[in-house]
Amino acid sequence: MNDQKQLANFVQHMPKVELHLHIEGTLEPEMLLTFAQRNDIALPYKDIESTRAAYQFNDLQSFLDVYYLGTLVLREERDFYELAQAYLQRCKRLGIMHTEIFFDPQTHLSHGVALEVVIGGIHSALKEAECEWGISSAMILCFERDRDAESTVSLLHEALRIGDIVGIGLDSAELGNPPRKFQEVFQRAKTLGLHRVAHAGEEGPPEYIWEALDVLDVERIDHGVRCLEDPRLVQRLLRERIPLTVCPFSNVELKVFPNLKSHNMGNLLDAGLQVTINSDDPAYFGGYLNENIISTVNCLERDFNDVVLLQKNAIEASFCSRDEKIGMLARLERYIASFKFVI
Ligand code: HPA
Ligand code: ZN
Repeated sequence: MNDQKQLANFVQHMPKVELHLHIEGTLEPEMLLTFAQRNDIALPYKDIESTRAAYQFNDLQSFLDVYYLGTLVLREERDFYELAQAYLQRCKRLGIMHTEIFFDPQTHLSHGVALEVVIGGIHSALKEAECEWGISSAMILCFERDRDAESTVSLLHEALRIGDIVGIGLDSAELGNPPRKFQEVFQRAKTLGLHRVAHAGEEGPPEYIWEALDVLDVERIDHGVRCLEDPRLVQRLLRERIPLTVCPFSNVELKVFPNLKSHNMGNLLDAGLQVTINSDDPAYFGGYLNENIISTVNCLERDFNDVVLLQKNAIEASFCSRDEKIGMLARLERYIASFKFVI
């Protein structure tokens, strides 16, 4: 068996953790069209082929336009439940043992969908997956940075009243929307003992990563690939061991890098940063977690040690308890010890 095949085989069955996944970004064309019909929502796509053909992006904004259009079909609790259930079924097939899921409540509220509907649907699917398949998960409420920050604190309190939110994040159009706009809600989240993450340094400059750390006091940076433009920032990320949740397919599809070969994942690893690989919006970017890991590692000519390091980083960077992390590390070690390498 050649090395690439063996590595793919190793990744397929390895117990994995995913830390950067927008549940709305798992809406596959088949489901999009089914929900549109069921909820009587008119879309500009007539079939699966024309839907997939529309998934061509020049940058983050052109993606967000398509992504938010897709969210229009999510109306009932059952839609959110089925969406999350489909992703968790995939997690089972992909060997994902723990996943931390983003959702965008402001979008759904703007469509007249109540917060209870969104959180209730996702939460039921997560609990079911935990009971049936032992997949653990956490929900992270994302605020959209291109919206007003005004009602975010009350939205956070409302969400906490409804369900199990472990933390908050910041997503959507980065350029022109610096993190500091959301200082108040991030401060409140910290007071409430919630975890904090933010998308920064995807399209935006390294200054946004500094601001996410200094002003929002985040514990992880989502994307963060532009940190390498600022050596002082790299020193800070190393010193404080701040994880980066990198999404290679997303970065290529949104033209942050022209192709996978020119992705800076290898440089991030070589710098000693705590990088992880994730799928972001897999229905739109052409692959789920395993494909992101396998293609990136093969394309950048990295090896088994890097795959294992990336997974150990993800376990450490997760918002699980110390005991849960020890359990996941032990599961990973058992898998490595039992894997039959063919020489
Ligand atoms: N970046 C920023 N916001 C998002 C993304 C992304 O990749 N996906 C969904 N919202
Ligand atoms: Zn993202």
